[in-house]
Amino acid sequence: MPHFLNQHYPATRMRRNRVCDSVRRLTQEHHLSANDLIQPFFVIEGDNTQEAITAMPEIYRYSIDLLVAQAKQAYNLGIPAIAIFPKIDIHLKDERGTEALNPDNLVCRAVRAVKQAVPDLMVICDVALDPYTTHGHDGVLNTIGDVDNDATLEILVKQALLQAKAGCDTLAPSDMMDGRIGAIRMALEGAKLTNIRIMSYAAKYASGFYAPFREAVGSGALLTGDKKTYQMNPANHKEALQEIALDIQEGADLIIVKPGMPYLDIIARASDTFTVPIIAYQVSGEYSMLMGANNPDLMLEALLCFKRAGASGIITYYAMSAVNNSPNNLPKIIV
Ligand code: PBG
Repeated sequence: MPHFLNQHYPATRMRRNRVCDSVRRLTQEHHLSANDLIQPFFVIEGDNTQEAITAMPEIYRYSIDLLVAQAKQAYNLGIPAIAIFPKIDIHLKDERGTEALNPDNLVCRAVRAVKQAVPDLMVICDVALDPYTTHGHDGVLNTIGDVDNDATLEILVKQALLQAKAGCDTLAPSDMMDGRIGAIRMALEGAKLTNIRIMSYAAKYASGFYAPFREAVGSGALLTGDKKTYQMNPANHKEALQEIALDIQEGADLIIVKPGMPYLDIIARASDTFTVPIIAYQVSGEYSMLMGANNPDLMLEALLCFKRAGASGIITYYAMSAVNNSPNNLPKIIV
């Protein structure tokens, strides 16, 4: 940085630009708005039903009718997108995640219902088999109990097409199989679904911070072993850049870094290195941990820090609450 120190105290007093609200507002480098937020929802079978999730304060699994009502609220709060995660009945799960390919499965019905009620709300679906498998892994297993990459790809492509046909406008492959972005992109082009976005979980780490989510979708208790043969080692940085570069080459439109807060360095480096929008995922364990502090300001601070790190958007269970708890009643965004 040139001439960094050509003025110093007392010519420079950094506090002059902090001394009152007006100057603080004028010099603020990053902002958080409803436009930045993606609200995830968990969906279950039933009517007018909601279930608490022990590990996630204030988060519920909703039946489709209540999900639609929540989606309307999110849209009315100015939130541009939601992500839908199904909790599949245990009797519908099998080794191969067959229910993922049922065009009338819970997630496809949920997407159709939300899109019919709130057509302009972006709907994001996970592409992965873990809600549907009896072993809780994101793909099908080979004879030694590891996830079989190429056999899984074939199923994921079909799952992605089904979700797109149900009205999902943004597919979010979270499975971490090699080659899945390219395979899904080719299939979408082949089906003339040219405007369906892929928001790739490109840098997804094998993290303990996902535990509350696994309770929410009912995969945690089933999971055999861990996901380290496909999700990334938390110690690795350069590998994340390679994962992201590959997914962009294969046709990803947006990139997710996950988890969020312990991985701010990855978000910052990714947004410096690549031009595609980077989405931070503040995952379930981060959410629950921060909710434990019982202080909305702390959550808003954590979300703003994702913007400072370079995220274009943030997937957060706190999205609707963030808008509702905004301390700011001035309209922030003009154009
Ligand atoms: C499953 C999936 C996971 C999350 C999103 N999609 C969990 C996992 O990979 O085991 C985690 C989200 C969260 O913790 O909030 N493919």
